[in-house]
Amino acid sequence: MKALVYHGPGKKAFEDHAKPEIAAPTDAIVRITKTTICGTDLHILKGDLPSCAPGRILGHEGVGVIDSIGSAVTAFKPGDRVLISCITACGKCEYCRKQMYSHCTTGGWILGNRIDGTQAEFVRIPHADNSLYPIPAGADEEALVMLSDILPTGFECGVLNGKVQPGGTVAIVGSGPIGLAALLTAQFYSPAEIIMVDLDDNRLEIAKRFGATKTVNSTDGKAAEAVKTLTGGRGVGTAIEAVGIPATFELCEKIVGPGGVIANIGVHGTKVDLHLENLWDRNITITTRLVDAVSTPMLLNVVAAHKIDPKLLITHHFKLDGILEAYETFGHAADTRALKVILEA
Ligand SMILES: NC(=O)c1ccc[n+]([C@@H]2O[C@H](COP(=O)([O-])OP(=O)(O)OC[C@H]3O[C@@H](n4cnc5c(N)ncnc54)[C@H](O)[C@@H]3O)[C@@H](O)[C@H]2O)c1
Ligand SMILES: [Zn+2]
Ligand SMILES: [Zn+2]
Repeated sequence: MKALVYHGPGKKAFEDHAKPEIAAPTDAIVRITKTTICGTDLHILKGDLPSCAPGRILGHEGVGVIDSIGSAVTAFKPGDRVLISCITACGKCEYCRKQMYSHCTTGGWILGNRIDGTQAEFVRIPHADNSLYPIPAGADEEALVMLSDILPTGFECGVLNGKVQPGGTVAIVGSGPIGLAALLTAQFYSPAEIIMVDLDDNRLEIAKRFGATKTVNSTDGKAAEAVKTLTGGRGVGTAIEAVGIPATFELCEKIVGPGGVIANIGVHGTKVDLHLENLWDRNITITTRLVDAVSTPMLLNVVAAHKIDPKLLITHHFKLDGILEAYETFGHAADTRALKVILEA
């Protein structure tokens, strides 16, 4: 089969690779029909994630069709159409029993990280019964690709951890796919203000269409002052970090108001300063989270009921064999105006 293989920082190739085989009775092999590229794949290619070794097939999102199952898989059979969660869960370990699937002792975020991922014609899914979801009849499969990672991530790490409330004020730093997923799902709770911050006017324009009440372009380095002004000097109740660099986390430290929450989503590859000299008396909470994908069943219902339309996040389509061009397009979003790209196998 063909697959996108990581060959160390800055290096990748779309090349021939052995087709995966069932390795444990709880495994399923899925034939990928649609996959995509995540900001985290770009972090891996920058060398930010040493857990991902050279030789690894990237990708942790997608939908497909069950090709074969191990003897212990009971929830799926060959031919079933499935949504692949970016988080693999055994359902039995100490963390799974607490619904902290991201830290499953034999799973968690392993796809396209510690084991081969979804940017390929086939993928092996461990603990298939707990890590795949049946695709409801009539569902739009492209929209569902957004439920593998970005919608649960924006919702769980940003909106839930950030305690977004009716009438509250929210700032989301980073208007990429994850920030926009947080923007879409924050509206479940009817906050009064959602301020989106980014360097890219195109993405801020999209954010306005998705429900942002205000936008701030932070290119001039004065975003903290701008957000303070927009909130009557108080700062926000929820500051969601959806970029993954020191400057944006430090911006969240400046704009969080007394009693507020900084909900970090970004994957950080370098150290970030914590300014306790400014924050010690602010009664704030800082949260971090690797998505647990506990909200996937709820999000499937929300999408089926047309309460949100994740397809709005899709800007480009490629065939799987055009994946190198897709990476170029996704990696130069400011020029290409890309959000999520769909790769069709
Ligand atoms: N915690 C988790 O479980 C989890 C899961 C998935 C993704 N992530 C992380 O979430 C982050 C966002 O992912 P994405 O796919 O949206 O990434 P992305 O790179 O597409 O988007 C990041 C956005 O931040 C903007 N930006 C960059 N520098 C900025 C600055 N100084 N000020 C304001 N905005 C700035 C960019 O213009 C872009 O719009 C990444 O770090 C990704 O690795 C975390
Ligand atoms: Zn991801
Ligand atoms: Zn587990």
